[in-house]
Amino acid sequence: MTKLRSRAWFDNPDNIDMTALYLERHLNHGLTREELQSGKPIIGIAQSGSDLNPCNRHHIVLAQRVREGIREAGGVAFEFPVHPIHENSKRPTAGLDRNLAYLGLVEVLYGYPLDGVVLTIGCDKTTPAMLMAAATVNIPAIALSVGPMLNGWFNGQRTGSGTIIWKAREMMAAGEIGYEQFIELVASSAPSVGYCNTMGTATTMNSLAEVLGMQLPGSAAIPAPHKDRAATAYRTGKRIVDMALEDLKPSNIMTRDSFLNAIVVNSAIGGSSNAPIHLIALARHLGIELSIEDWQTHGHEIPLLVNLQPAGEYLGEDYHRAGGVPAVVNELMKKGLIREDAATVNGQTIGENYRNTPIVDHDVIRPFDTPLQSEAGFIVLKGNLFDNAVMKTSVISEEFRTRYLSNPDDPDAFEGPAMVFDGPEDYHHRIDDPALGIDETTLLFMRGTGPIGFPGAAEVVNMRPPAYLIKKGIHALPCIGDGRQSGTSGSPSILNASPEAAAGGNLAILQTGDRVRIDLNTGTVNVLISEEEIARRRAELDAQGGYPYPDHQTPWQEIQRSMVDQLGNGAVLKPAVKYQRIAQTKGLPRDN
Ligand code: FES
Ligand code: MG
Repeated sequence: MTKLRSRAWFDNPDNIDMTALYLERHLNHGLTREELQSGKPIIGIAQSGSDLNPCNRHHIVLAQRVREGIREAGGVAFEFPVHPIHENSKRPTAGLDRNLAYLGLVEVLYGYPLDGVVLTIGCDKTTPAMLMAAATVNIPAIALSVGPMLNGWFNGQRTGSGTIIWKAREMMAAGEIGYEQFIELVASSAPSVGYCNTMGTATTMNSLAEVLGMQLPGSAAIPAPHKDRAATAYRTGKRIVDMALEDLKPSNIMTRDSFLNAIVVNSAIGGSSNAPIHLIALARHLGIELSIEDWQTHGHEIPLLVNLQPAGEYLGEDYHRAGGVPAVVNELMKKGLIREDAATVNGQTIGENYRNTPIVDHDVIRPFDTPLQSEAGFIVLKGNLFDNAVMKTSVISEEFRTRYLSNPDDPDAFEGPAMVFDGPEDYHHRIDDPALGIDETTLLFMRGTGPIGFPGAAEVVNMRPPAYLIKKGIHALPCIGDGRQSGTSGSPSILNASPEAAAGGNLAILQTGDRVRIDLNTGTVNVLISEEEIARRRAELDAQGGYPYPDHQTPWQEIQRSMVDQLGNGAVLKPAVKYQRIAQTKGLPRDN
């Protein structure tokens, strides 16, 4: 049996003074020496739920069942707060805070007497932030999803959180509904505790956390209020105690094979375009090679099986009832697309866990041979405007396909004049101005919205057409930008362009009216101007000090801007990735 690191605090014969001090304070609320000194693993519960994060708030309730599981298995629970990250209320963007929560959790996991940890994942960035920290410290860790909200309904129709807003906005722009109905329609999509019930970044990252082996099998998709969710919390608490005793660490579970499985599953579920950012970041903190190109190489040809909004019609409850992640993995396994030897937290392989977990409802999760869409993974694009960007092909609508991708001479390519916006405020002010002359051939560009420019990389690249085009039945124009897009958006945008304008990318020199050609077949996006003209504009911009970005408003904005990598590289803090498996490579921190 492994020596528990908490002994260095609570039972260290070489420094009884400090052991006495560490003990006296942790005894002060009624813990006993028997609990702290008889070899019981001390298990952290990294609590991400709070009033500031309504998506994860139910973890406050679930933690009670986690504690009971930990106690049942012979451990002692220490619950502590994680820096809140709430996707839809943190300004300027929750993307700013992923790395901050990561840093905070690294310090906690490393600097306190913890033998293992339960990561209470859920709302978008809470999942990668906590997995990244557990990976860096590399103590035994298990994730517990809070689960999606119940399905939203309005007038007998499913309304998906984060997705209905786009439709409601269009309806209001078209004059079909007023403000009161607009709010009512949007609010109907969030009827209970839990995270977004659509296939947004939360459902994506929670599904992938299970595929990576970091959650108990079958647990990702259980809705938050469901009894099985609380039962899973209990089992998760029980299991982490054994993991601590077995010394089963993130580095033993997450390997390159696990990540390739996650890429395959991401295509099959119609996962968020935020997934590459977060998985590349996680892999880099583990020291595993994973590039943006891997997403196209291993993911592009995988069909879309999960019929969830925004790519499909159903929501989280349906996903769970249809079999959830186990059914998807089982279906992909039958085609030899899953690396079955990949490890998981329960001590068994992916192959062992999901061998007998067939699809229950074939409309919600489609069989591999009758998918919703073939080749549903990302296309990775490059060209003279950026080194890489991704396009989520599973959300390309029939209307979009017909208008842009159906020219018999040039089926996968189109070109048009650029309309360039410098940030979302610029777009909101000007989009409906008829003087801009935006028509169905226009390509909308958004810049100044990356990790440095925004800062934190905003989810703003998906732009709606002007109201006068929507009234004519044109619901989507091609959008390209250096920011991100909400996973709940159904827009086939080209996003995460790296490097961003503010980091020297050529989106900075693009001008409204330039013609731009997009070719999905060759994976290229090019502005059709000469290299000399690009160099001339570049020199002119550089002479002015480069593409401007707003002043830092907080210390963290300045600190992160000084060291953050680009979206294509996971937007990690560059100095942080050299710290790997620190519980093993750096020993223990010095005594207090
Ligand atoms: Fe929290 Fe969507 S806003 S999960
Ligand atoms: Mg989001």
